[in-house]
Amino acid sequence: MTARLPLGRNEIYLLPALSEAEAARVAAAVLDPPPELRRACWHVSESIGTIGEPLYRNRDRPDYYRDRARATNRMLAAAYATLYDRVVALFEERYQVPVVFVEELAIPGFHLVSYSSAGWHDGGGWHTDQLAWQVPYFCARAAEVDGVVNFTLPLIVPSGGTGMDLVDDIVGAADQVAVHVPYQPGVMVLSECEILHRLGPSTSTNAGELRLTHQGHGVLFRGRLLLFW
Ligand SMILES: [Fe+2]
Repeated sequence: MTARLPLGRNEIYLLPALSEAEAARVAAAVLDPPPELRRACWHVSESIGTIGEPLYRNRDRPDYYRDRARATNRMLAAAYATLYDRVVALFEERYQVPVVFVEELAIPGFHLVSYSSAGWHDGGGWHTDQLAWQVPYFCARAAEVDGVVNFTLPLIVPSGGTGMDLVDDIVGAADQVAVHVPYQPGVMVLSECEILHRLGPSTSTNAGELRLTHQGHGVLFRGRLLLFW
């Protein structure tokens, strides 16, 4: 059942997408990819690695972004069909429109963090996603964009917890609050507007613990929901 979390004038939604056991099975498959998928899609970094090439890291090289999407979308979709099918079904039920992907935009991918030491790890920088407006096609047709979706589906959470920090949108309000939404494997965190947020702090008990999330964005456009990353 969907839980609603009020935040200023907005709401965040928590949607069970996978059971804990299903999330663990998907996570195991993501962490043990076919060699060609690892070669083509893994971008390991000191801080946050990605599996797939997201638009927010490739704004300055749209040709590269499009080429990587064309080269890897089918590979990711085939390797993790169970996950993509579940996410598509969830959104089709919620919005009652067909969910589609396109060749020119990367399909939703993964963020992977590996904590090299035990302890408390600070969160990320505050930002809004605003992804639809980084796609020139949607900018040119802004009047036809009927809504946006930003989602994160946690698959592995470090032993001491992690999550997302969000702030309500009433700028300057005396009672403006930040909330921490703890991640639970398999439970999607969804917003349908642009909310100031950041990757929340994490705590790991042992060195080498992981944080793995599936995530993406959506645009309601001409009677369909187009998912991308
Ligand atoms: Fe974000």
